[in-house]
Amino acid sequence: MAAPRILVLTGAGISADSGVDTFRTQGGLWERHDWREVATPEGFAADPGKVHGFYNGRRAALPEVRPNAAHRALADLERRLEKDGGRLTLVTQNVDDLHQRAGSREVLPIHGSLDRASCTACGAVHEWRQDLSVETPCPGCGKAGGMQPYVVWFGEMPRHLDEAEAALDEADLFVSIGTSGSVYPAAGLVAAARAGGTRCLELNLEPSENAGLFDDTRYGKAAQIVPEWAEELTW
Ligand code: OAD
Repeated sequence: MAAPRILVLTGAGISADSGVDTFRTQGGLWERHDWREVATPEGFAADPGKVHGFYNGRRAALPEVRPNAAHRALADLERRLEKDGGRLTLVTQNVDDLHQRAGSREVLPIHGSLDRASCTACGAVHEWRQDLSVETPCPGCGKAGGMQPYVVWFGEMPRHLDEAEAALDEADLFVSIGTSGSVYPAAGLVAAARAGGTRCLELNLEPSENAGLFDDTRYGKAAQIVPEWAEELTW
């Protein structure tokens, strides 16, 4: 049998076992921070210093965390599938870089990346590892005041959606990992997959908001259940 083409959607739960905060689980980021203040264009306009502080903290934590067994299993699976003519496209809502560091190659970070910054003055996007502030000049145009984290905020259009939809059109299997299914359009991928007749699997700690739309479900910690699923997958 030919190797399958798989579209995987990941959320904060896949990085939880690496020690990265989730958003909506108990003690999560949205319990400690008001998302309207730190994750909307209006919040940034009102208090850019506060928003920079929020993302500076999350960016500074990246070198402290490592990919876990779930990230590694997806990178291994991508290589196995490619070798046999299949494909794994990874659509991630996460702004950490753990999929890339685990070795995944076809990654679509639809909510942006903490390790980049953009300039509203000239539109350039730069690799970014340091803190940002309202005084930070753009390395391209030299203007200060326009640098912002390269992340998608509520009310903004996620990135790479055309590529994600094209990969979904071709997919034999859709797998959702570690996401609560509460933020659209990512949360709508399962309905789109079903409408196209694609089989859907949920791997999560607990049933997501869309759990009823999946053909198969498995619950447990991502670092355990993702490698188990990937090892069992044969074609
Ligand atoms: P959430 O915090 O909403 O959901 C995390 C999901 O991971 C929940 O369903 C948990 O049950 C599950 N989970 C927690 N620990 C886990 C573990 N060890 N193994 C497996 N699953 C685990 O995070 P997302 O669904 O990613 O967007 O949130 C989506 C978007 O909302 C984020 O990208 C972010 C946020 O607001 C923006 O900031 C634009």
